[in-house]
Amino acid sequence: MTIDFKEKESVIEKVKSLLGGEEKFAMVETYGCQQNVNDSQKYEGILEKMGYTLTHDREKADFIMFNTCAVRENAEKKVFGNIGALKHLKLKKPDMVIAIAGCMSQQESVEKKLRRSHPHVDMILGTRAMADFPEALEKVLSERKRVINRREIDYICENVPTNYDGGCKAFVSIMYGCNNFCTYCIVPYVRGRERSRSMEAVLDECRLLAKKGVKEITLLGQNVNSYGKDLGLTEGFATLLCEVDKIDGIERIRFMSSHPKDISDKVLETMATSRHICHQLHLPLQSGSDKLLKEMNRVYNTEKYLSIVKKAKELMPDIAMTTDIIVGFPTETEEDFEGTIKMLETVKYDSIFSFIYSKREGTPAAKMDFVATEEEIKARFDRLLEVQNRISYELNKKCEGEEQMVLVEGVSREEGVLTSRNYQNKIVNFKGDESLVGKMVKVKITKAQTWILIGEMCE
Ligand code: 5AD
Ligand code: SF4
Repeated sequence: MTIDFKEKESVIEKVKSLLGGEEKFAMVETYGCQQNVNDSQKYEGILEKMGYTLTHDREKADFIMFNTCAVRENAEKKVFGNIGALKHLKLKKPDMVIAIAGCMSQQESVEKKLRRSHPHVDMILGTRAMADFPEALEKVLSERKRVINRREIDYICENVPTNYDGGCKAFVSIMYGCNNFCTYCIVPYVRGRERSRSMEAVLDECRLLAKKGVKEITLLGQNVNSYGKDLGLTEGFATLLCEVDKIDGIERIRFMSSHPKDISDKVLETMATSRHICHQLHLPLQSGSDKLLKEMNRVYNTEKYLSIVKKAKELMPDIAMTTDIIVGFPTETEEDFEGTIKMLETVKYDSIFSFIYSKREGTPAAKMDFVATEEEIKARFDRLLEVQNRISYELNKKCEGEEQMVLVEGVSREEGVLTSRNYQNKIVNFKGDESLVGKMVKVKITKAQTWILIGEMCE
C-alpha cells in the first residue's frame, strides 16, 4: 500500500490554524540508525509545513519529538532518562507537546511504561505512524488528549515533505522493514516486513536532490540487496544503482546495509563499472564463528562471506570494507570469538562498528543462556577494538602520500581546519577556507591516524 502525503494537506492546514499566528518552535531529537535520521528529516519537513520553526533548543520548543531506537537496551535507557528530564519543561510550559516516535514506542512494553509513568507524554507514535502524524497532532492540539498510534499495517509513504537541511549529503530510503529475523534483533518485530519504494519514486527523489545541489547520496534499507524482490524485480538493487549512477550532479553514491546472504555479483560488478558508486562496502559479519552465524540465523557461513570479499577485492582492489560485529552473543565461547578475530585479520576492515550483545525481549536469543561472564565479554570487546585499531591504522598508513578527492562536509573544531570524507568514507581533515564546504577538493594525505587522515590541499 502507498499513501500519498499530498492527501494530508488539509489536515496540515488545520494544524497550522490551531497553532495561531505566533511563531512556534519544534525539535526532533534522533536516536539510532540512518533510517531514523531520515525519518526525522521527514517529521521535520512535516512540522515545517505545519508552520513550526525548527530548533535544537529543548527550552525553546513548543513541540518535542524523540525519534527512538530499540536495537540495544542502553539506547532505551538513555531515552527514558531524557523523557523524565522533559517533565520540568512541561510544568513550565503546559501547552507544549511531547511525542515519542520510532522503534522504541512500537513495543507494547514501552507503551505501557510510558502510559503508566510518563503522563507528560502526549503522543506515542510507532514506526508506521508517520502517515497519521498530522491527524494525531491535530487531535492533541484541539482536544488535549493523549494519542497512541502503534498501527502495524506496512505501507510506503510518498511525497512526504523532507528537511534535507541544505547539506551536500543526503539519505534516501529505498525500502523499509526487514524479513530476516536474525535471532538477536528486534528490528523485524518493530519495523514490519520488507517493502520497496518504486524505482521511479526513488529516482525522482535522487534527481530532486541533485537539483538542490546534493553531491552524495546514501541509499538506505535494512537489507538493500533484497530491494525490489517484493516488486517482482530480479537484480532490482543492481538496476537501481545503475539508474542512480546516471543522474548528473550526484558525485558519490553509497548504500547500507548489505546482507551477505543477498548481495549478488551483479551488484559488485555494477559498483566496479559505475561512474559514481564509491568503492566502499559495509557488509555486516556479526560473528566469525560458523556455529554462531547459524544460531544467529544469518544464513551464510564464513566461507561464503569470504568469497564475497574476494570477489569484491578482485573487482575493486581499492575497496574499503566496514562491518558490524556483535560480541557476547549468549552462546559465544572463547573459540567462537577467536573466529571473529581471525576474520578481522583476514578481511582487514577499514573500520568496524562493534556492539556488546544486548538482550531484546521477544527475540529467540533472549531465551538463550549465557556461556560467558560479563567480564569475559568486556575483555573480548576490548581485545576486538585493540586488534581493529591496529588494522585501521595500518590501512590508513597506506594512504599517506596519496592524492584523493574529498567532499568537504564542514568545519572541524580546530580553527581553520575543514572536515571532509574521501571516497572510502574515511574522514580527512585539512586546512582550508570555509567557502569550500559542500565542494569536491583534491587533497594530499600527509598523516594517518587510527580514525582519521590528515591532509593538505593540492594546488
Ligand atoms: N545487541 C547488540 N547489537 C545488535 N545489533 C542488532 N541487534 C543487536 C543486539 N540485540 C547490531 C547488529 C546490526 C547493528 C545495526 O546493530 O550488529 O548489524
Ligand atoms: Fe536485524 Fe538482521 Fe534485519 Fe539487520 S538483517 S535489521 S540485524 S534482523
